[in-house]
Amino acid sequence: MRTLSVASAAENSHSSIWVGQGLVSRAAELLDLAQYSSVVVVSDRGARAATQQVADSLNLSADRILELPGGEVCKSVETLGRVWEFLIDSRLDRRSLVIAIGGGAITDLVGFAAATYMRGVSYVAIPTTLLAQVDASIGGKTGINLGGIKNVVGVIRQPSGVIIDTDTLGTLPERELRSGFAEIVKHGLIADRAYFDRVVSRPFTHWSGDELVEIVFRSCEIKRAKVQADERESGERKSLNFGHTLGHAIEAIALKREMAITHGEAVAIGMHAATFLSCAMGTCPAADLERVVKGLITVGLPIRLSTSQNQGDLLQLIAVDKKNVGGESRWTLLTGLGACVWDRPVSEELVRQAIALIQPCS
Ligand SMILES: NC(=O)c1ccc[n+]([C@@H]2O[C@H](COP(=O)([O-])OP(=O)(O)OC[C@H]3O[C@@H](n4cnc5c(N)ncnc54)[C@H](O)[C@@H]3O)[C@@H](O)[C@H]2O)c1
Ligand SMILES: [Zn+2]
Repeated sequence: MRTLSVASAAENSHSSIWVGQGLVSRAAELLDLAQYSSVVVVSDRGARAATQQVADSLNLSADRILELPGGEVCKSVETLGRVWEFLIDSRLDRRSLVIAIGGGAITDLVGFAAATYMRGVSYVAIPTTLLAQVDASIGGKTGINLGGIKNVVGVIRQPSGVIIDTDTLGTLPERELRSGFAEIVKHGLIADRAYFDRVVSRPFTHWSGDELVEIVFRSCEIKRAKVQADERESGERKSLNFGHTLGHAIEAIALKREMAITHGEAVAIGMHAATFLSCAMGTCPAADLERVVKGLITVGLPIRLSTSQNQGDLLQLIAVDKKNVGGESRWTLLTGLGACVWDRPVSEELVRQAIALIQPCS
């Protein structure tokens, strides 16, 4: 087991991230339960096996567990209401602990419910998708979607602990696993060249259990460093948006057209485009574009859309990105493999060229 400590300057607190195999059955040993008056679990239906192991370890009865369907649909006001009501019905007081077990949608939702119930009770995340393990459960961002806008209501509040058991990924569909790998590649690209070289050296399915623990741990370390440097996202934390400017636009179009694309696939295509822009803007050596493209392909991630999309539609979506300033699109750009800059304005003409690059090969 590897352990990372997280310091929150904003909250004047410390917490731990545990990464390893077989950890869910050791939940009681990892969490110092004596400090809490009571414990409840809100879990993802997709993570039933992990939930059972946590319940056994903590000796929890069935009425202390609320199971939800999981997935993006649960990040709604309605489901948030169900979670709050469950906390009230379970008679939680201010010294209670709420544990979320599941994908990033569940950890975002439950983290927000715990942060707002009685103005905040303790919260522990047990992420069970790769994306939630290397991304969503680290950094304290929580929230729900509303009116078709993602994450529009939420808070930043650090969990009391994060238990990352890579064995829980055993039941995850391959496509979801691949989605998480896009964020792992991103971590290498923005912060650590040697790590990038390593994670793009083979297909995402070709890692042993031990190797996967090391990879997840390194990604958590990189994300923790970015978050600690800039918890409120006024500077360095924006580096984590690499590949997401276009990635989010692709996801928005996919949603409207009912195209099935995972977040990681959209981000991989977005990273291809953002690397092209980095080279075109002169922040990154031209040879790095080929290296990134080769790496994404080796991992098994897409570099282009599967069906062509209207340039104007994508441009418009990029223009409304909430990270823009004064109508100008701002990008996180590489300054080589393993380093980046953020908030860089890019001309519409170059963005058009990047969009042309990610259209399907004809
Ligand atoms: N808070 C943050 O900083 C942050 C960062 C990145 C992403 N996110 C959010 O995370 C969400 C995406 O998370 P995700 O990719 O984990 O998707 P998800 O939570 O939608 O889960 C995907 C699917 O996997 C199922 N599942 C969960 N664990 C499983 C397991 N062990 N075996 C089999 N199936 C399992 C779920 O039921 C769901 O159907 C988005 O809402 C996104 O906004 C948040
Ligand atoms: Zn992402």
